[in-house]
Amino acid sequence: MAELRRLIAGNWKMNGLMADGLARAKALRTRALRTKRPLPDIALCPPATLLAAVGKVLAGSPIALGAQDCHQAEKGAHTGDIAAPMLAELGCRHVIVGHSERRANHGESDAQVRAKAEAALRCGLIPIVCVGESAEQRRAGQHLSVIGGQVERSLPSAATPETVVVAYEPVWAIGTGLTPTPQDIEEAHKHLRTTLDAPIRLLYGGSANAANAKTLLATPGVDGLLVGGASLDADAFWKMVLAA
Ligand code: 13P
Repeated sequence: MAELRRLIAGNWKMNGLMADGLARAKALRTRALRTKRPLPDIALCPPATLLAAVGKVLAGSPIALGAQDCHQAEKGAHTGDIAAPMLAELGCRHVIVGHSERRANHGESDAQVRAKAEAALRCGLIPIVCVGESAEQRRAGQHLSVIGGQVERSLPSAATPETVVVAYEPVWAIGTGLTPTPQDIEEAHKHLRTTLDAPIRLLYGGSANAANAKTLLATPGVDGLLVGGASLDADAFWKMVLAA
């Protein structure tokens, strides 16, 4: 299979007020414009309140803007939600859907995640569809069937390598400092790869940081990283970009 272009995406989650987010985005923009090295695809997914301002900072740089969620409807009576066309209008290129924190805290189902991913596709956004097993599911040896089922039910049927990204984020690895072994990641990605019938990019996420990025990226089947905590530090995140 031809090598897929790597993607390093930073998910800032619910972190950062304006000054903080702008400073981080400016620091990364400067690094991206100065470097002579070939870069992977890079995306920053700040909280919704910072999207417009961060988007202005990133404009004209190789760093794309992404959002952390979208609603499946195009508009309507959905207080507090944000529709995909609103994100597209702000210049977003990506949107994370089905993150385990949304699945857990907002009860999002696979069907809803698929509807969100389809809404993203309709307005030209690239959904980053997240899947991952819990600690109990892994202990019970169900991890492969869980993530296989999640991709089957959460991915839009029209997924292609250019339009959709999948992120494997074991729930127990998120924000814990724990990561699966490279063998476990390879096994999971191999399983996802055979479940998907298109060469979709497969990111790994969960306690990825500047120290382990090289190992994670050298793991067969890993096409990039979805970074949480470490993406809040511009230096650490940039090291991870260069590791790709
Ligand atoms: P951490 O990198 O903080 O573990 O978070 C991963 C994640 O959830 C990215 O979406």
